[in-house]
Amino acid sequence: MSSNFVADQLPADLDSVRATDVILTGDRPTGALHLGHYAGSLRTRLSLQGRCAQTLLIADLQALTDASGNPARVAEHVLEVALDYLAIGIDPAQTTIAVQSRLSALSELTVLYLNLVTVARLERNPTVKAEVALRGFERDIPAGFLCYPVSQAADITGFRSTLVPVGDDQVPMIEQTNEIVRRVNRLANTPILPECRALLSRTPRLPGVDGRKASKSLGNAIPLGASADEVRQLVHRMYTDPAHKRATDSGRVEGNVVFAYLDAFDPDGDAVADLKDRYRRGGLGDVVLKRRLVDVLEALLGPIRERRAALSRDLTYVRDVVRQGTFQADLTTRSTLRDVRRAFALEG
Ligand code: TRP
Repeated sequence: MSSNFVADQLPADLDSVRATDVILTGDRPTGALHLGHYAGSLRTRLSLQGRCAQTLLIADLQALTDASGNPARVAEHVLEVALDYLAIGIDPAQTTIAVQSRLSALSELTVLYLNLVTVARLERNPTVKAEVALRGFERDIPAGFLCYPVSQAADITGFRSTLVPVGDDQVPMIEQTNEIVRRVNRLANTPILPECRALLSRTPRLPGVDGRKASKSLGNAIPLGASADEVRQLVHRMYTDPAHKRATDSGRVEGNVVFAYLDAFDPDGDAVADLKDRYRRGGLGDVVLKRRLVDVLEALLGPIRERRAALSRDLTYVRDVVRQGTFQADLTTRSTLRDVRRAFALEG
């Protein structure tokens, strides 16, 4: 799979990763993972695999904070996300896959941390603020939703994680986690929890095919499990430059979704730079450009699709991977909880 990487598609600070780093990151199982997840975080996790300890958390409890009306959907997607992980090349011998709701230590950590955070601080969290505005909650924010940064801090610290590969929308979560870490360590009078840092991808935000934020609900994202036909159709729908009507017209590269995807996924950066020149000058049609993107995406998604199909015929294996990973994670997070309980004078 590493053949799909080119040096400048990798996160800028990959070299700063130490063998002693502990990686924890997660996904909400509310739908199929898509190319936005791949560019923003999954690809980073793949390239870090084997370099240091890594856990991927399927964050079903967090998914319930904004999908409380549809718990069955969340439950169904737990295994789907695990399938996506394995299909892209996550190797359970090197990366632990665990389910959040089965790690009761994380819930206990959340309850303890809630005492260290004010409502005002949660309301100031830019990610929460944006999501509250987007959903039009105003004052009727579900309390669980408002508090999900605290639960995420429990996820990160429960594994004593030092490095969190995420999209840039998650940076406020890391900041809030570190505030909690410092408060816990002050309570404990000794650094029982490490501070963590975000590892950002160079393409943190891949647009949806219509140029808006890629989202499962808008149907504008390209799922990792998409069929070749679906990929073709979605690329066909891609927003380019509305003023670029004939191939001979000069076209805009900025804000052009096809180029955003080529930048993220085409292994031949020089060829893309060339295409951009030709597009700007005039003489390159959208059809040719889109055909290239279809080929590039097929080279990436074809093998993933095949592995996904094979794995879905062997769900016992997938369930086993998740069960074993969750067992490991349970041991790790329980050990952290013991230290944190002591900081709160809950046991000797
Ligand atoms: N909030 C993340 C998202 O929406 C998912 C997540 C849950 C996560 N727990 C985490 C990410 C811990 C990093 C670390 O995508």
